[in-house]
Amino acid sequence: MRKNIVAGNWKMNKTLEEGLTLAKEVNESLKGADLKCDVILGTPFIHLASVVGVVDADKIAVSAQNCADKEAGAYTGEVSAAMVKSTGASYVILGHSERRAYYHETPEILKTKVQLALKNGLKVIFCIGEVLEERENNIYFDVVKSQIVDSLFDLSGEEFSNIVLAYEPVWAIGTGKTATPAQAQEMHAFIRKTVADKYGKEIAENTTILYGGSANPGNAKELFANPDVDGGLIGGASLKPADFKAVIDAFN
Ligand code: 13P
Repeated sequence: MRKNIVAGNWKMNKTLEEGLTLAKEVNESLKGADLKCDVILGTPFIHLASVVGVVDADKIAVSAQNCADKEAGAYTGEVSAAMVKSTGASYVILGHSERRAYYHETPEILKTKVQLALKNGLKVIFCIGEVLEERENNIYFDVVKSQIVDSLFDLSGEEFSNIVLAYEPVWAIGTGKTATPAQAQEMHAFIRKTVADKYGKEIAENTTILYGGSANPGNAKELFANPDVDGGLIGGASLKPADFKAVIDAFN
């Protein structure tokens, strides 16, 4: 059975002190809760080790938002997958549309990052999604399929079991414009079929596929109710503990 997951992506927000306060508040809000999903906090690199230290590991996993496409060495300013792993984090978000658009991360670079992350024992939350123009031109299935094939389909079935997919239509990120539950379900079912065609039905059924893009307490329940939507990757609403908790509660 696949896992349901609610993951927060803090992006470039919060000082160390503010981030620790947020992590502690989220942790506190889950005390005694009968959780129906796994919870992940995706923090900036500098927060990772400290956040790992203040949350209950049986309830909350910690994720980086990126890692280097090199193992180690003279790459000033970069943070390797091994370093992320050494903080106690267990996930890394890769392929976010902001990294693709602003930092020119190509499918080839992302493929290398995914392989390094898995090699170092991290699970990967791999983001895919079309821009508005691609949706309007009706090529969104092709775009998303290529993103998956180009960066992930060199993996073995066993390696692929450590991938969580996150469908994040770029037009819905930070815009307040959410995909409708029907649009999300349609794409998630397509993604699952794409995985099934390559790795077989069992691996596809076990793959967690998250929705991201202006998900919030007001729409999470309706989105998560769809058979192929296994949770969310939450930006803005993950910065407010009450909202994040309410999204988690959408599974109850
Ligand atoms: P918002 O929830 O702020 O739209 O961000 C979504 C996102 O990009 C998560 O990775």
